[in-house]
Amino acid sequence: MRAVQYSRYGGPEVLEVVEAAEPHAGAGQVRIRVRAAAVNPYDHKVRSGMFAGGAEPARPTIPGAEAAGVVDEVGDGVAGTRVGDHVFGLATGGASAEFALLTHWAPKPGTVSFEEAAGLTVVSETAERCLRLLGVVAGETLLVHGAAGGVGQAALQLARLRGARVIGTASAHNHDLIRSLGATPTTYEGGLPARVAALAPQGVDAVLDAAGTSLDELLEIAGGPGRVVTIANYAAGDRGVRVTTGGGDEAAFDVLPWISDLACRGEYRLRVAAAFPAEEAAEAHRLSESRSAGGKIVLVFDQPGRTSPARG
Ligand SMILES: NC(=O)c1ccc[n+]([C@@H]2O[C@H](COP(=O)([O-])OP(=O)(O)OC[C@H]3O[C@@H](n4cnc5c(N)ncnc54)[C@H](OP(=O)(O)O)[C@@H]3O)[C@@H](O)[C@H]2O)c1
Repeated sequence: MRAVQYSRYGGPEVLEVVEAAEPHAGAGQVRIRVRAAAVNPYDHKVRSGMFAGGAEPARPTIPGAEAAGVVDEVGDGVAGTRVGDHVFGLATGGASAEFALLTHWAPKPGTVSFEEAAGLTVVSETAERCLRLLGVVAGETLLVHGAAGGVGQAALQLARLRGARVIGTASAHNHDLIRSLGATPTTYEGGLPARVAALAPQGVDAVLDAAGTSLDELLEIAGGPGRVVTIANYAAGDRGVRVTTGGGDEAAFDVLPWISDLACRGEYRLRVAAAFPAEEAAEAHRLSESRSAGGKIVLVFDQPGRTSPARG
């Protein structure tokens, strides 16, 4: 199969498109013929060697943690999913290839493109996990820091669906996007506590940090670390803030069927900022590293009779 792969850690240039061995569905897994795979910040962090402590990869690695496509193998013990079903979900062993194995999945809504469905899993699970950890309920006010990113957009919508009022920090050019998702935007620059106090005179009940910056200001806004959760500032634990990485029993993949239903009804959406052919995976990683895409970035795998998609 055609796969995006790297054999050494480094910049986007280490990515190459190669012929790789096809994976096969194990127990509890399905294999999909990938139509689109999303690029997440985690992919380029791993590719850079950030988590490797100076070692090189033990074996060639296919990046990517999520994809959407058509089921073509069903592993032992899987009920309710058949060959030919259109699904999206969490991949193991890499998603940026013609075939990927999924460990958690849900039906792809017919109303949603494969490109949009490819990016639904990671950010929706992350946002739902954070809202559960924060215990956000109807009537409360939540601040989402880094609201225009993938996780931010998911968190705004899932918090609004809980009946919470939401304020989101974002660059000014993303403020219309934040408003379109039912939240009130503000910028990142200094003076954040005063701006947030003006927008929420009743106070902020909980803070979700998806940007990894401005910790002092976030703690001031929340009145302490008790109801602050971060996904992007690993040092914040020293200040008593809950740092979540999704390990153990924190994971919230049970949210996927609900996400599928919401997306089907048009009540939940994620902006696809850019779609690249698989051959341009390095460009896709560069855009992700810029932290300025303003939505999901996806790699599209050509199907028979289908031409490469336009970017945008
Ligand atoms: N721990 C976990 O379980 C977990 C799970 C998923 C993601 N993450 C991490 O969470 C972070 C967000 O993920 P994502 O998928 O939402 O990323 P993304 O889609 O690339 O979004 C990046 C966000 O960063 C903002 N940003 C860029 N420069 C900034 C700056 N100087 N100060 C503050 N914000 C800035 C951008 O906002 P503007 O465009 O408006 O500037 C954008 O909202 C990443 O670090 C990712 O690795 C962690």
